[in-house]
Amino acid sequence: MFHHGIALLIALFAYGTVTAGDGPLANQAAIDAARARWEGSPQAGWLARILPPSLDAASLPEPGSRGAALLARYCVQCHHVPNPAMHHPDKWPKIVDRMVVRMRGHGNRGALMKDMMGGVKAPDEEEVHMLIGYLRRNAQKPIDAARYPDLDTRGRSFRDACDQCHVLPEPSSRTAGEWRRVVARMERNMAWMNRVVGSRAMPGEPQLRLPDILAYLQQHAAPARRGS
Ligand code: HEC
Ligand code: HEC
Repeated sequence: MFHHGIALLIALFAYGTVTAGDGPLANQAAIDAARARWEGSPQAGWLARILPPSLDAASLPEPGSRGAALLARYCVQCHHVPNPAMHHPDKWPKIVDRMVVRMRGHGNRGALMKDMMGGVKAPDEEEVHMLIGYLRRNAQKPIDAARYPDLDTRGRSFRDACDQCHVLPEPSSRTAGEWRRVVARMERNMAWMNRVVGSRAMPGEPQLRLPDILAYLQQHAAPARRGS
């Protein structure tokens, strides 16, 4: 009985959120439906490695916002959820343009994408504008290299390893504890996205030295906040 009551409450809550069209529950439903779709396509192996599965609807920034809802509607149709914090603000408009061209069935692999997903939805101009605003507001903070005279010496491993997929992040933008978690996740991202970035490997490429990278970031990290 008790469990029934809880289940009913959850169902009602979910229903209310779904009909409102916004919110993490509705967004997660949209993400799951899209994922089932692209994972069922013959291109699944390749699409799954474009981005790692790092985020769910609840961990998106501003999870109840229109921006998050638009991301969960449009940006999950061909790959895992993009993290706004992956790229710096100036990078996002061009990426979104590239994706919108695809959603409209043109561009690099446009025909393939259109073929693959007959029902792919494309945002209108107002939605594109909102999406770009949302991504830019929650973007990565790029390094202010002038503040790091030791970047080419002690910071070399960091410099060489951490700008392969996005701009070098600003070391003082995270606490030491946050860097520990981010670097561990990036190690997984590198393995996950291997097939995409692997082609960039060059002979004599420096070995990835995660302990050096973490030490460098933690040395320059933001002071720990209370309770973190
Ligand atoms: C129609 C399919 C499709 C949709 C929808 C789509 N993408 Fe992509 N996306 C791709 C493909 C294919 C690639 C790999 C090639 C490339 O990078 O252009 C990609 C790669 C990416 C990458 C990794 C490459 C990079 O430059 O970091 C990001 C980030 C990304 N998409 C973000 C988005 C965002 C944000 C949206 C929504 C505005 C979106 N995608 C919607 C097909 C799509
Ligand atoms: C193989 C590609 C790749 C490499 C190399 C890479 N990253 Fe990332 N990075 C990503 C992707 C994908 C995301 C977004 C998904 C996520 O957050 O896991 C991201 C997001 C981030 C974020 C934002 C995370 C957040 O949620 O706030 C930071 C900070 C970051 N990376 C730092 C680093 C550092 C430091 C390194 C070097 C150790 C590094 N990255 C190397 C792919 C990469």
